[in-house]
Amino acid sequence: MRSSELVQWFRQSTPYVNMHRGKTFVIMLDGDTIASQNFINIISDIRLLHSLGIKLIIVFGARVQINELLQLHNISPQYHKNIRITDLQTLDLVKQAVGKLNYDITSRLSMRLPHSPLLNVVSSNFILAQPIGVDDGVDYLLSGKLRRVEVENIQQQLDRDAIVLIGPIAPSVTGESFNLPFEEIATQIAIKLKVEKLIGFSATQGILDQDGQTVSDLQPQQAAVYLEQCIEQNQYHSSQARFLQAAIDVCRAGVKRSHLLSYEEDGSLLQELFTRDGVGTQLSMDNSEDIRVANVRDIPGLLELIQPLEQQGILVKRSREQLEMDIEKYTIIDRDGVIIACAALNVYADEKMAEMACVAVHPDYRSSSRGDILLEEIQKRAKNLNIEKLFVLTTRTVHWFQERGFKMANVEDLPQEKREHYNYQRRSKILIQDLNAENS
Ligand SMILES: CC(C)(COP(=O)(O)OP(=O)(O)OC[C@H]1O[C@@H](n2cnc3c(N)ncnc32)[C@H](O)[C@@H]1OP(=O)(O)O)[C@@H](O)C(=O)NCCC(=O)NCCS
Repeated sequence: MRSSELVQWFRQSTPYVNMHRGKTFVIMLDGDTIASQNFINIISDIRLLHSLGIKLIIVFGARVQINELLQLHNISPQYHKNIRITDLQTLDLVKQAVGKLNYDITSRLSMRLPHSPLLNVVSSNFILAQPIGVDDGVDYLLSGKLRRVEVENIQQQLDRDAIVLIGPIAPSVTGESFNLPFEEIATQIAIKLKVEKLIGFSATQGILDQDGQTVSDLQPQQAAVYLEQCIEQNQYHSSQARFLQAAIDVCRAGVKRSHLLSYEEDGSLLQELFTRDGVGTQLSMDNSEDIRVANVRDIPGLLELIQPLEQQGILVKRSREQLEMDIEKYTIIDRDGVIIACAALNVYADEKMAEMACVAVHPDYRSSSRGDILLEEIQKRAKNLNIEKLFVLTTRTVHWFQERGFKMANVEDLPQEKREHYNYQRRSKILIQDLNAENS
């Protein structure tokens, strides 16, 4: 990386550093992730997250490692309804595999860099289990389910700056040990601790569509379709399926975002968390707000939103006819049928430039990032049209755009047609953003 690119990247990551500081993330590490070549880099990135003030709970699984041990002892794994049946002999091997991973992860997290303090990694009886019991006449024996999460105990460790490490074995109140699915542990901990994010890894960079491209955003009901596909393809135990099960549940219970990233590609975690577009699949809650292209039926609502701003001189006056003609240029946020925000995109294809115009958020809904959401959507629309530069003309909102990477410019920098119609009396400031710059 050239040093100027590094400097730029460093600067542009600042908002994300501030956004994540003090937040709690649950990181799911399944056996495949831990066995991957890139695991050493994932662990060092986890250390980096901790040093940036993010509170971390790592929940790990050991399926691959357990099955390797079973094979070594000529024991074939027993499942009922996709859940492992754990007899006493199997539990001994589960303890072996989980114990080893616990030590290995702790050691790697303890690797000390110059000028860095030693990380405090804590494993304890943070969860309690109970037996699954008998189902269809099949006894799951020492396979358990979660009985309780010791929320306060975990929170105390996080407040003391420790990384909490939890494996898939938990004690019961009767003094026995039970083997639990790690995705169930991650799910319940994420929900009970009301964490900000759940992060998981799989062999691919998130969920791939039919063309092999990463699906960047999913809502729970769409994720459920992908999970169904995994199950149909007998991939119930894949990293992807286990993450999806957890992510769908936590999302529906109010965890804002879950991310699925590649365990093979170095740096996925950092790219996902510290760049705007990310690299993997993000799962977020169902939203009653819909961001979409406007149509003629939206015109009355649009007028209601922008007319008060036109009267204050903040926006240029537009007639209903003009709106009708240009309606497809408008992107709106529709909240249960009410238009609460809008922005238009006027394209100057020859110059590969476009104007973001008529930007407005209803006063009742300001300062909740809807302006940012609109800007992101307009940037996306512009990039899809091969636009390289996005510009705005504004009289009173200069700083808002500057804070989002727009730079002051002159009339000569505008596309010719716009230059000819520039209203010198209005004296709007011109700001331009280079869409090819990283993170724009
Ligand atoms: C500018 C506008 C679109 C921002 O929408 P929003 O949903 O409130 O935006 P966000 O939540 O993403 O950002 C809010 C931040 O922008 C700041 N902000 C709002 N208006 C601003 C302005 N005119 N200049 C500078 N900063 C402004 C807020 O103080 C807030 O800052 P904070 O996060 O430090 O509290 C909205 O305030 C608006 O509709 N203004 C009137 C119309 C307008 O000015 N349009 C632009 C003309 S081209």
